[in-house]
Amino acid sequence: MRELKDLWQIFEERFPDTGLRKGAFAAPGRVNLIGEHTDYNEGFVLPMAIDKDIIMLAQLREDQEVRVYSLDYNREVIFSLLDLEFEKEDFWANYLKGVIDELQKMDYYLPGMNIIFTGNIPIGSGLSSSAALEVVTAYTIATLNELDIQPVEMALLCQRAENNFVGVNCGIMDQYVSRLGKKGQALLIDCRSNEYELVPFANEDYQVVICNSKVERGLVDSEYNQRRAECEKAVRYFAGKLDHRILALRDVTIEELEKEAAGLGELTKRRARHVITENNRVLMAVAALRNNDLETFGQLMTESHYSLRDDYEVSCPELDLLVELALKQKGVLGARMTGAGFGGCTVNLVHKDYINDFIFNVKKAYDQETGKDMESYLTWPAAGARKLA
Ligand code: GLA
Repeated sequence: MRELKDLWQIFEERFPDTGLRKGAFAAPGRVNLIGEHTDYNEGFVLPMAIDKDIIMLAQLREDQEVRVYSLDYNREVIFSLLDLEFEKEDFWANYLKGVIDELQKMDYYLPGMNIIFTGNIPIGSGLSSSAALEVVTAYTIATLNELDIQPVEMALLCQRAENNFVGVNCGIMDQYVSRLGKKGQALLIDCRSNEYELVPFANEDYQVVICNSKVERGLVDSEYNQRRAECEKAVRYFAGKLDHRILALRDVTIEELEKEAAGLGELTKRRARHVITENNRVLMAVAALRNNDLETFGQLMTESHYSLRDDYEVSCPELDLLVELALKQKGVLGARMTGAGFGGCTVNLVHKDYINDFIFNVKKAYDQETGKDMESYLTWPAAGARKLA
């Protein structure tokens, strides 16, 4: 990524100084360690922010115009705060517009801005570059205008931007961890109360390795909505069947599922089973981390993958291959797909002594079999949204 002073130079060459407040901000992508497709079921997730960011430089304007220049797309988009239109061809601008729209709906009166942004989060690979763009936009606008928006509230408004303006029905996880992530910590998020606990996640011997399948997540939106609908169907079924309050799959135990699912249909039962067992795995994984038991943690990651593959059916052959290859390598404690699925990345826990071999062997076999060019990234939990010096 370019140095901040070089970015300011680009900014100054493009936009005349308005004399108003300005600043530089960053928000990271994320990798989810465990707890997949549980956030919109009011369950538990355990993501961490990664050390890849979107960086935004901005200065307020006197008028109501927003000029945004994307360095990575080498394209400038201009729009008015009074006329926020969804534009398919400038898809990245929609994330900014969505956030502005939500802020305006909260009755914040905003001035225009000049903005440039750039990033090193691989796009379309399930590491939440879009959530990072939403969060860095909200953080930038809130800071420059001195808006008092609490971190969780900011994550929620970014999620609404994605749901309402961009039209993707995502849960809260990605925006939450991009806003609230902490160095050295994974975040256990309770997606019912929207509260979180920090879970220290650093180890001298093991490292998180992300493998990018380079499969673009084509089907993801329609399949995602379908999974949500199947979960809602299961909730309605159990609400009519069980004699305690069922507001989400979070409220159904695995024993209740096994005992009462006869009328639910085989497919919906499997979907529900994934969510219920995955919630349990997250809590067990957190306990394992707190006991420094990375072996159990790794096993739970791998079980999560099998459940996503077999019960929830959101994996794909390439992700399954990456996991299978990973588990054959020395020094690997666990491997799973991460994010919504149907492509994107896997997350692996690998002993430091074996990382080079791991990457070499997995890449070689994967590229040979798929004709793709796997990429890998090493990371530990990084900081969430922040102001840059
Ligand atoms: C996407 C969504 C998240 C979450 C995951 C699946 O990343 O944005 O809210 O639902 O998929 O765990």
